[in-house]
Amino acid sequence: MSQQTPGTTATQAPQGDAFENLSQENRRFAPSAGFAANAVVTSADYAEADADRPAFWAKQARELLSWSKDFTQALDWSNPPFAKWFVGGEVNAAYNALDRHVEAGNGDRVAIYFEGEPGDTRTYTYAQLTEEVKKAANAFESLGVAKGDRVAVYLPMIPEAVITLLACARIGAIHSVVFGGFSAEALRSRIDDAEAKLVVTADGTYRRGKPSALKPAVDEALAHDGHTVQNVVVVKRNGQDVDWHEGRDHWWADTVGAASAEHTAVGHDSEHPLFILYTSGTTGKPKGILHTTGGYLTQGAYTHKAVFDLHPETDVYWCTADVGWITGHSYVAYAPLINGATQVMYEGTPDSPHQGRWWEIVEKYKVSILYTAPTAIRTFMKWGKEIPAKSDLSSIRVLGSVGEPINPEAWMWYREVIGADSGRKSIPAPIVDTWWQTETGAQMIAPLPGVTATKPGSAQVPLPGIAVDVVDELGESVPNGSGGYLVIREPWPAMLRGIWGDPERFKETYWSRFETMYFAGDGAKKDEDGDIWLLGRVDDVMNVSGHRLSTAEIESALVSHPAVAEAAVVGAADETTGQAVVAFVILRGDAVDSGDAIVAELRNHVGKEIGPIAKPKTILVVPELPKTRSGKIMRRLLKDVAEGREVGDATTLADNTVMAQIAHSLKK
Ligand code: WT7
Repeated sequence: MSQQTPGTTATQAPQGDAFENLSQENRRFAPSAGFAANAVVTSADYAEADADRPAFWAKQARELLSWSKDFTQALDWSNPPFAKWFVGGEVNAAYNALDRHVEAGNGDRVAIYFEGEPGDTRTYTYAQLTEEVKKAANAFESLGVAKGDRVAVYLPMIPEAVITLLACARIGAIHSVVFGGFSAEALRSRIDDAEAKLVVTADGTYRRGKPSALKPAVDEALAHDGHTVQNVVVVKRNGQDVDWHEGRDHWWADTVGAASAEHTAVGHDSEHPLFILYTSGTTGKPKGILHTTGGYLTQGAYTHKAVFDLHPETDVYWCTADVGWITGHSYVAYAPLINGATQVMYEGTPDSPHQGRWWEIVEKYKVSILYTAPTAIRTFMKWGKEIPAKSDLSSIRVLGSVGEPINPEAWMWYREVIGADSGRKSIPAPIVDTWWQTETGAQMIAPLPGVTATKPGSAQVPLPGIAVDVVDELGESVPNGSGGYLVIREPWPAMLRGIWGDPERFKETYWSRFETMYFAGDGAKKDEDGDIWLLGRVDDVMNVSGHRLSTAEIESALVSHPAVAEAAVVGAADETTGQAVVAFVILRGDAVDSGDAIVAELRNHVGKEIGPIAKPKTILVVPELPKTRSGKIMRRLLKDVAEGREVGDATTLADNTVMAQIAHSLKK
């Protein structure tokens, strides 16, 4: 690791250049009259929320959820930054997502259309999904899982992932999903940090037509003494051979399959922890973001209805995110089911068996609401518009974007090729660009499709009941036309309640940069209309294909390799993935620079320590790293090198020859 202590991250000034280009953007797309007339949410919600924010959310909580015990207070903010929402209320997430729809006579409505990568399909009605979740709840209880216990989930995108999450929520167990693309080592550290009692996994999944394994990573993660895991439940997905630990391992079919389908859900306190989800921050150690029940479900359900204009009786909704990320939690496992929607779930990659797979799925299930990430859109752009043009996309009526800023070019392509069905539709579907974070739990900034005139590239307006602002260094609100730091001024229902096991770090990370305001870590600008444009992270967090990665985490993986003396990682602009990981490493004196061999070895090493998603795209071996006199690495200069620009102001370097040394070594 570099000499500087990880975590002492200076915020970088938001980049103005990006906005200069964006501010040329003056296209506006107002909702069509027909869309506006049928929209489920109107502009009245803004006024109502402005008049009394907690009362607005209390109304949503009572309208969108069935409480087994009503709450007595909407918000308790007496001990900031620790909020309590819907105080005294009791609610069961699984009952709200499942049983109540069956009780209301909607048991035959499809909850999930599952499409496996090899082409196998399964359909679950609300009645069937309810039954599966009850069985899983009984099975987990019979394995000793009780309210408050942690359950680690390491599953592919198959229905059992949603069933597992809802079964945990039903019995009050706290799930901690680890994305299937993370390594055994990443899984181990998350299992240990949360002290999980149960792990739910699968033998494997399919990736690009080939079986890929998951269970070996669980075995490896549990190979050390002193872990807390008592049982492992294994879904048979691809039938590959697995090592079996008698007494510890149980096939899903034998436990869940054999369990009773009778299970009564009881209400849990509104502030009962629902889940932990680890995310990368500015230090080497991922943070366990903690979410609780009532507020999280309320804001998830409200935003899902309002931002996607959900008509649950007729819409077919498809969010392409993996359940391993927050989007897959909030907008696959919870909100759509709470709202009684019908959704599509797809296991595989977009190019398997060919690059038109997604569009065939849209046509097959008549998807009407599609929610995906800019990186996917840019990939489809690269593959060519002829591919989606082969499918009938006329069912699409709302398009969502999430995960990173969407550039106007990708936005327009999304509108014309997907939203207008390659020009076959005269009125294109509105696009909603949604800004939020693992920490915010639910969408925070987004247009309302029946209300807002959208602008290509901007998330634009805080949602009703959400108080977002852009401030300068001193925390003063900036005028329209200026940039600064994105903050949230008032508590919101789905806000994180803390970092698992580390309340101090919660305060320090989010509530210390600006007093009394939540600092999101993003730079933003207000345009002349006061609309918000997101400009990317201002801290040492990278965004690669909408996935959050920490420079410090990858640096610490690199320096854990015996050949590396020091490492510095930057996110360099990349046409498809938004940013790409570029690492600069200094090798140890005794490590021979064996050229490509060491670079390949280091990439694999990062893959093993964190996961394939964290593998640097480029690793540059250099003789020195640019540091200030206090030892802080000047990543800005390395970013200039990585992006092929002339190196900027280097006057604060401790050694002013370093950049020349680096340039010289890279030329060789
Ligand atoms: C970071 C949060 C929200 C779920 C997926 C990512 C960036 C997210 C947008 C957007 C510009 C965005 C921000 C944020 N981000 N959505 N619509 N426009 N930037 O969740 O992994 O917690 O990452 O993603 O930089 O801070 P996450």
